[in-house]
Formats: sequence, structure tokens, C-alpha cells
Amino acid sequence: MESRVPGPGKHSGLRGRGSECALMDDLVAAVRRGESRSLVLKGEAGIGKTALLEYLIASASDLTVVRAVGVQSDMELAFASLHQLCGPLLDTLETLPSPQRHAMEIVFGLSAGEAPDRFLVGLAVLSLFSEAAEQRPLLCVVDDAQWLDEASALTLAFVARRLLAEPVAIVFAAREPGEELLHVSELEVAGVRKGDARALLSSAVRFKLDERVRDRIIAETRGNPLALLELPRGLTARQLAGGFGLVEAQGLAGRIEESFVRRVETLSDDARRLLLVAAAEPVGDPLLLLAASERLGIALSATDAETDALLALGERVTFRHPLVRSAVYRTATREQRRQVHLALAEATDRTVDPDRRAWHLATAAAGPNEPVAAELEQSASRAQARGGLAAAAAFLHRSVVLSGDPEQRVRRALAAAQASLHAGMFEGALELLALAEASTPDELQAAHVELLRGQIAFASSMGPTAPPLLLKAAKRLERLDPELARETYLDAWGAALFAGRLASAGSLVEVSRAPRSAPRPTRPLRASELLLDGWATLCTEGRA
Ligand SMILES: Nc1ncnc2c1ncn2[C@@H]1O[C@H](COP(=O)(O)OP(=O)(O)O)[C@@H](O)[C@H]1O
Ligand SMILES: [Mg+2]
Repeated sequence: MESRVPGPGKHSGLRGRGSECALMDDLVAAVRRGESRSLVLKGEAGIGKTALLEYLIASASDLTVVRAVGVQSDMELAFASLHQLCGPLLDTLETLPSPQRHAMEIVFGLSAGEAPDRFLVGLAVLSLFSEAAEQRPLLCVVDDAQWLDEASALTLAFVARRLLAEPVAIVFAAREPGEELLHVSELEVAGVRKGDARALLSSAVRFKLDERVRDRIIAETRGNPLALLELPRGLTARQLAGGFGLVEAQGLAGRIEESFVRRVETLSDDARRLLLVAAAEPVGDPLLLLAASERLGIALSATDAETDALLALGERVTFRHPLVRSAVYRTATREQRRQVHLALAEATDRTVDPDRRAWHLATAAAGPNEPVAAELEQSASRAQARGGLAAAAAFLHRSVVLSGDPEQRVRRALAAAQASLHAGMFEGALELLALAEASTPDELQAAHVELLRGQIAFASSMGPTAPPLLLKAAKRLERLDPELARETYLDAWGAALFAGRLASAGSLVEVSRAPRSAPRPTRPLRASELLLDGWATLCTEGRA
């Protein structure tokens, strides 16, 4: 039924969102009263999550509002989204207790240091928020949370769970909220009802639709506003009558993306290239977009009218919908993408943003490229120092692909596998190990491959497969790196203890016996080594 009842959200311009807007109104009212709130808006692409966030922001003009948007891109940068969100609040950094302040400074690249503890970063963000809320109630809006970098996602989820009685609200929107947001209350955004869907559809179609065709479109789009507005566009009455009915086969998001592809294909070459630059640049920095476009010789003035409906060039560059971005990027050829990434790299300041620059260069590389691979390694160390394990793994992975020299490739593949392991990306880590093995590792490297396999087995399942693998690696390392061999025996022993009775080969006794034949260091034994000795004796000879 069409919603004609005046009430909350009636000035929103949104159709059929009375109860959702009322919930947003309540949330803002609660924050004004000094209470905290957290909420996830969940729903498929185009269902209207961003539109609801816009409504929320518009109704909170008396609050301090900070925003971040996750961006679909194959570049993971540690804490990028958190930076976006907290950037406007950083002038209160001084007021934070010094360990928290220090953690934030490292995370945001303001100072160097050890990767800070996640917990400390979370606390620091909480402090920043409550400090800001002392002045005015604070509303944090995080759109497209499914694309946040991992470090930001975990931190923000931590913060959302621990808001106390302070005037702070965090509202996320996500297609499929990640596990970390499970404990945050959720509002599922569904399609609009029939009457509202009909109104949206007729606003997008110039001619009068046959009633049966109209009802079928509404049923197939399940009231998804973007689908209702976008899918019929550019189609004739006859096409509309015959062309639907594929939604289930392809998925609604796929259909909508297809329709954006059709639209992009009708644009002039310059307009299309401008869209591609915007799609390849995840930050949404208008100056960067203009600089890169200039390098590519795109006649900007001529493109405005064409791109207006798809791209907004304001303080930030934003696509009308993320599906426009993916449509644009997907339809470009490899060569077109490479040129655009190269222009973006050249337009990016090496000192201000070396990591993004390295990433664009990497994406622009046609084949192995040693200098770029080396730059990526540096970016990986920086990411690691900030606690961005997934980001470090991503940089290293790309550096492996760009390594022409087999020796470098093996070395980087091992480092990338280790970073992936620490980031919890086990499958990726195993693939990298296979790659290292295929590039003829030397004996020590081959032992490292085995060691990492054992560590992955342990970290991923804690089951019985890890001890024998670790044991084998330790044995092999005895001659090559006695220190590491002993550490590995200790790992194997820990793994066997965990696996308990499940361990067949590599049982506790076997694992305890093995290191006794290993060469002993000449220096005094470390505590962990003494422990291993003691346990080994206990397990093989029983209590004396
Ligand atoms: N209730 C609504 N009434 C009218 N238009 C809507 C409504 N919800 C969304 N839209 C429009 O549909 C399009 C997609 O909505 P958007 O909020 O971007 O979806 P999402 O963020 O869930 O992918 C936008 O152009 C938006 O303005
Ligand atoms: Mg959205």
C-alpha cells in the first residue's frame, strides 16, 4: 500500500520508509538525550540503505557528524576507513591518555613505532568519541561497511559494542554485515511495498506501462528502489514487455550492474575514461581525479553533462551507486585500466601517500617489475607496523606477482605467506607456499615452506595434522638453523598437546622424543628451551 500517512520521514522524499525513518528519528532523539546507540542497516544493493543514512544525517544537523565509506577495491590499506572517520576529530588527540594517543599516532602514520595493540586502538577511538561528545552529541555514519578494511572494521565493531552512557551513535550500513557486527542491533531494510514501487517505476518510465508488465517488474525487483529506477531506463515499451524475467538467473545486483554497463557504453570516449579514473581511485579525492585526467588528456569540460547522472564531483568524488563503479571498472579493457592506474600513480604524491602510489604502479605494471615490487615490500612493512596484517599480506602478494627474479619471488612468497597466516588468510597462504615451491627454493627456504605449512595447519584447525608437519620441518631445520629448529620443536609439542588424543603420527610421546637428538646450542638454554627439555623428559621417561 502506498504510504500517505503523514508522519516521520514525510519530508525525506523517500517512499514507503515511514517506520525506518521513525527509527532514525528515535535514534537521534536518544543521542540528544545523552544516550548511546549503535545500529546496522542491512540489505541488498540498491534497497535504499544509503538513502536512509542520508535521511539520518539530514535530521541530525545539530549533532557533530563524522562519516566513512568502505570502497570496493582490491587495495586494502590498514585503518583507511578509521582514518576517514576520525580525521575531523584528531585535533582532540592531545587530550587522550598518552598510550592511547601514541597508538593513534602510529595508526595514522603521524609517528613511527611498534604496531599498537588492537584493544588500545579501540580504547583510543572510544576516548576520541567521548571527547567530541562533550562538545556536542556525536553521530558516526559508516556506509558500505562490507568493504571496510579489516583493521577498521574490527576496531569500529569493538567501539560499537562498548559505547557507554554518552551521546554517541554509530550507524553502519552493509549488504551482508561481517561477523564482527553480529552483536550490534540490526534493521533489515526490505523492498518498498507495491504502491510505492509503482510510483517509483512510473517516475522512471516515460510511457504508460501495460499493467501486467508493470506488476511483473514490481514482483521481479521485489520493491528494490534502485532496480525500479534503473532497470527500465533506456528500454522501449516492447523491450520492457519482453525483456524481464531474468532476475532470478542473474541476481538483482547483476541485472542492475548490467544496466549501468549499457548506459556507460553509450557515453563518449572521454566521459567513459573519466568514469574509469574515478572508479580506479578509491579515495574519492577530486584533485587527484582532475590531475590524473589531465595527464590522460581527457577534455573534462565536455564530459560534465554526460557523467552528471552517474558521478558527483563535490568535496569528494562519489558514484551515484557503487554498482556504477563496478560496471565502469569491469567493462574497461586491461590496457585501459593500466593506463589509468599509471596516471593515478603519477598524480599521487610519493611522500604523502607512498602506499597508494605503489599500489597504482603495481596495478599498472604489465609484467614483472623489480622496482615496483621493492616499493610494495616497503608498503607492506609500513602496513605491518600499523597493525594492518591483511594490508601487509595484500602488498606482499602483489610484490610476488611482480617479481621477475625467482630468488626474490621465493623470498617474497614466503614473507607473503607468513603475513597471510598472521592475518588469518589460510587459503591464500597455502597458495603462496605452492608458488614458492614452484620457483625452486633453496634448502632453507624449502624448510620454511614446511614450517609454514605446519603453522597454517595448527592455526586453521588445531587438529592432528599440524604436529607431524611441524616435526618434519624441525628435523629438516636442525642442520640449517638449529635455533629455529628448537623453536619449531616447541611449536610441534604445543600443537601435539592441543591435538591431544587426536594426534596419531606426531603423538605427544613422539613429538617429545624427537628434539632430544637435535643439536644443542652452545649458549645457555632459554626458558622455553628448558621447558621443552623438561616436558620431553617427563613425557618420554615418565616422572622420575
Ligand atoms: N524509499 C525510497 N524512495 C525513493 N527512492 C529511493 C528509496 N530508497 C532508495 N531510493 C533511491 O534508490 C537508489 C538506491 O538507493 P541507495 O540508498 O543508494 O541503495 P543502497 O545504499 O542500499 O545500495 C538511490 O537513487 C536512492 O535515491
Ligand atoms: Mg549504498
